[in-house]
Amino acid sequence: MRMPLIAGNWKMNTTVSEAVKLVNELRQGLDEIDNVDRVLCPPFISLVAVRELIKGSSIKLGAQNLYFEEKGAYTGEISPLMLIELCEFIIIGHSERRQYFNETDEIINKKVQAALKVGLRPILCIGERLEQNEAGLTAEVVTKQLKSALVGIDDLSKIIIAYEPIWAIGTGRAATGKQANQTISLIRNNVSQLYDKKTARDVRILYGGSVTADNATEFMQQPEIDGALVGGASLKVDQFLSIVKQTSEIRQVK
Ligand code: PGA
Repeated sequence: MRMPLIAGNWKMNTTVSEAVKLVNELRQGLDEIDNVDRVLCPPFISLVAVRELIKGSSIKLGAQNLYFEEKGAYTGEISPLMLIELCEFIIIGHSERRQYFNETDEIINKKVQAALKVGLRPILCIGERLEQNEAGLTAEVVTKQLKSALVGIDDLSKIIIAYEPIWAIGTGRAATGKQANQTISLIRNNVSQLYDKKTARDVRILYGGSVTADNATEFMQQPEIDGALVGGASLKVDQFLSIVKQTSEIRQVK
């Protein structure tokens, strides 16, 4: 059985002191919930402080981006080697990176390879734009993104996939549980074709896009959905705790 995972992507929110406050408010509540992996992804500059605060707790840590070179003259970039000292997970290929920072499928593949090389666990994001969705191209788009991101990667055991339809991110317009489940099932089939049945059965695939305490249960009840990548609602203590709790409760019956 796949362990569900809820990751909070804080994006470019929280100063260091705000990050510390948020973690302090989340920590105890999260520690009281079982059977769900929970990962916080604060901005880079808060990783060190958050890492200290979550020592001995159930919370795992992730970063939101990385550069694919290990070190060198790349002013302003953060390397996989720097991150592996601090955290376990790394969000790669988020649609905001693709859209605002021109990250191509090729760059994303390099980042996945670089992350795996040092032992980071990628949360690989894929998803279609609104017009692609309306044109019936969802399957084609996510299949291409998945294949390109995984070029040269033989072992999927460290990777988590997040299906995030772009039209659902930050818009308050989430996909329905059924829609998300259908696309995630297609992604799982793709994994089966690219690798094998066991790999497809074991890989965790999350849904992301306007997940809140109000709709979390709808997503988590779906058989193919193994958790969520949560943006806006991960900055609100009650919301995030409720999403993790609902996920845990559903797992008991799923
Ligand atoms: P959202 O963001 O929950 O605010 O829609 C999700 C994400 O971008 O990972």
